[in-house]
Order: sequence, then C-alpha cells, then structure tokens
Amino acid sequence: MSNKLTTRSSNLAYDLILRGGTVVNHEGMGIRDIAVKAGRIACLGDLGMVSSKKVINCKGLHILPGVIDSQVHFREPGLEHKENLQTGSRAAVAGGVTTVFDMPNTAPPTTNEKQLVDKLSRAHHRMFCDFAFYIGGTSENIDNIPELEKIEGSAGIKVFMGSSTGSLLLDDKVELDYLISRLGRRAAFHAEDETRLVMRQHIKRVGDSSSHPEWRDSRSALIATERLVQLAEKHKRRVHILHISTGDEMDYLRAHRQWVTAEVTPNHLTFSAPDCYRELGTYVQMNPPVRNAEHQKRIWQAVVDGTVDVLGSDHAPHTREEKGRVYPDSYSGMPGVQTLVPIMLDHVNSGRLSLARFVDLTSHGPQRVFGITSKGRIAIGYDADFTVVDLKRQKTITDSWIESKCGWTPYNGVTVTGWPVGTFVRGHLAMWEGEILLPARGESVRFQEGGLLR
Ligand code: DOR
Repeated sequence: MSNKLTTRSSNLAYDLILRGGTVVNHEGMGIRDIAVKAGRIACLGDLGMVSSKKVINCKGLHILPGVIDSQVHFREPGLEHKENLQTGSRAAVAGGVTTVFDMPNTAPPTTNEKQLVDKLSRAHHRMFCDFAFYIGGTSENIDNIPELEKIEGSAGIKVFMGSSTGSLLLDDKVELDYLISRLGRRAAFHAEDETRLVMRQHIKRVGDSSSHPEWRDSRSALIATERLVQLAEKHKRRVHILHISTGDEMDYLRAHRQWVTAEVTPNHLTFSAPDCYRELGTYVQMNPPVRNAEHQKRIWQAVVDGTVDVLGSDHAPHTREEKGRVYPDSYSGMPGVQTLVPIMLDHVNSGRLSLARFVDLTSHGPQRVFGITSKGRIAIGYDADFTVVDLKRQKTITDSWIESKCGWTPYNGVTVTGWPVGTFVRGHLAMWEGEILLPARGESVRFQEGGLLR
C-alpha cells in the first residue's frame, strides 16, 4: 500500500481530497472521500470524479476527527528548559494530536489577561497544532473570573485544589466555594485534598517512589472530588475533574452526573502499582499518582460504561535530571501528548475499548464538554482536523522518536499495534509518516462561550 501525496494543477474545486480512507464519525464507520476547502470540510462521500489541488491516498487507513488533548503542560513561559510551545506542539502533531489545551502552571503562572494574551501571541503560527490556554484560579483573581474565563483563546479556569508542580493552589474552602459561585463556563480541577496531603507528608519514604500513592492516597482524591461535586451542585455550576485516579471517585460520580464531567489519562489506564514503580521508579511519578491494578480495573470500567467524558494526556515533561533526583525530591509528571494515540490504539486493538469510544473520548467528548465550535466531528462545515491512523501497524515507541524537549517517554521500548500516520490541522498537513511539515499553522480554538474580544 502506498500512501503517497499527489499534487495536481490549480484552479480546481477543492484544496484537498483525502481519498478512500475509512472515516470514523458520528454515523459510524465507512469508506468515504473527504474534500476540504479553505480549511473546512466541504464534502463527504464518493468523490472519484471531483478535482482538487491535492489528493492524498488514504486507502487502508482510518480517518478520525482530529484528536483533542485537553490537558497538556507546555511550560512556556519560564520553564523552557523542559518544553516550549513549539516543541510541545511538534510532539502533539507527531503523535496525531490536532488541538491542545495548555495548563497555567508556568512561570509566571497564567492568572490574568496580560499573561493569556502573551501566550496566545507566542503560540500563533509558531505552534503546529491548534491551542487554547487555561487561566489559573487563585485567591487574587476570583473577582475577575467572569471576564477572564471568556477571553478569546481561553479554555476556561483551572484550579489546583492540591499542590503539584508550580505555585498555583486554591485550598481554602471558603474561597473555593466563592470561586465556584462565580463561574459561568465549565472549569477544570485538580482534585486532591491539600490538608490531607500536608498531614501525611511523613508517609513518603526517601528513595522509594512506590510510597507516592501511599502518601497521596485514594482518600485524598475522593475527599476533594466529593467537596468539588457538592459545591458544583450547591451553586449549579459546571466542573470538570482532571486525571481521575481512583475507582471510588468513579463510583461517586456515577451518582452525581448533573454538573460534573470526568477525564482520565492513558497513564492511569496503562501503568499500575507496584510493578510500574519497580520498573520505572520516579519516571512514573505523577499527581495524582498511578495506583494499583484494582483502581485501574475500575477506571477502565468507567471508560467502558460511559462515566468518563474525555481522555487527556496530562503531558507534563521534566528533564531527566529532575526526574532522576532521589524521591521525594524528584518531580511529578511525565510526557504523554505524543504517545496518547498509539498507546490508546493499542488498547483498542487488544479489545479494551472500541475505536468509536476512542473517538468519543478524544473528539466528540471534548467538543461537548468544553463547547468547542467547529471541531470534534467529521461533518460539513467543521474544521478539517484529522488524525489519520494505521490500525494494524506495529511499532516500538522509543525515546529517539520523542519530539518533546525532555527527550524521553515512560513508554520507551513498548511495542504497540496502531500508529498515527498523518495529522491535519484545518486542512494543513502538519505531519505525514513521521515528518513534521513546515510552516507551523496553529491558531486559537473558538468556544461557544468564549470569544470576549480583547
Ligand atoms: O504530575 C503532575 N505534574 N500533575 C500535575 O497536576 C501537574 C504536572 C506538572 O505540571 O508537572
């Protein structure tokens, strides 16, 4: 099979046709051509007789709506020794991801309009994928939240209820109550109870990263999740819980669905304690921690039964030096934006979830949860964002493949079945067969409830 790029002469009806791929969208799965004009999906069906400036043969490949990763840490400004917006976005498109939402725990943290505007201008046509930026919710900016969350290019508010990398933290119960009452859009939360984390500091064992989930235990996560859900219900506000790590939280959420949406990471679905700490030590340390196989099983159950709304990578790169320090001085977090698609396609191939559910979690889900306009579906008029994958290709993930500035992955040496072959962002080819294509064309995401013009 050859997936060659063909260019034809100009003055033709469409800019691009993806020919003969198996399209996976809201109506199921079937072989279709997709025509693109001015960055949007213009036509779907059998377009054999139709002309186009460029035709890409996708026979034998699956075309998914562009994968949206709604949790990454691209570290710019201030922490560019780990990552920057450009290298992070190279990792995204190399892994088949077309859109990312970047977190506010940079240096300085993103907590006001000036810092958000600075990030947006750094990102425009320097990032390879499309982007939005969260604004950190703090004691100082609560009163400005109704304006901040609506600025064009903002993904909304992110709150750290428990401390993690960086200085952002909002653990005061009265302030949290007030912040939630001020929300208009859905806001995202890191739910670990800070009081309990501080109280249990003594549980960490020097040099033993397997004590990380003992210190930051499942109860710390459940207490914070319960508090958050109760406040969301009290004020009738929408909240999104990031990287859920316990089966107990999933049980609780099933009974409290009205105001809450849920994210899980490939890391919590793939690694489990104690083996992962024995094999990878501090390299698999993250917050909230990777837990035992029993929690993992219950998180999978929540993926399959629909409790989970989206998958996010929580791409959190740190240098090898920072990860290699003796626990607990080692940093929490690992890169993941580039490995999300291949790791999850491997889970699809081993029968743990369907391809349709993968698409639901990575495009339809984020579109619905965050109210993204014109992304997340393969339908006429939507942005021509596509993740083109070869479901049968077997490849081994290696550190040398990693585009992230940190230069390593916890999945080094893992052989997967299912691989990203192409990444299209609003009709621009950003990656094909491993090659990242210049120029960078990333632009900010539009939201139904955003768009307050600066
Ligand atoms: O492990 C983590 N690392 N969890 C977070 O919530 C933050 C992240 C980071 O920024 O390094």
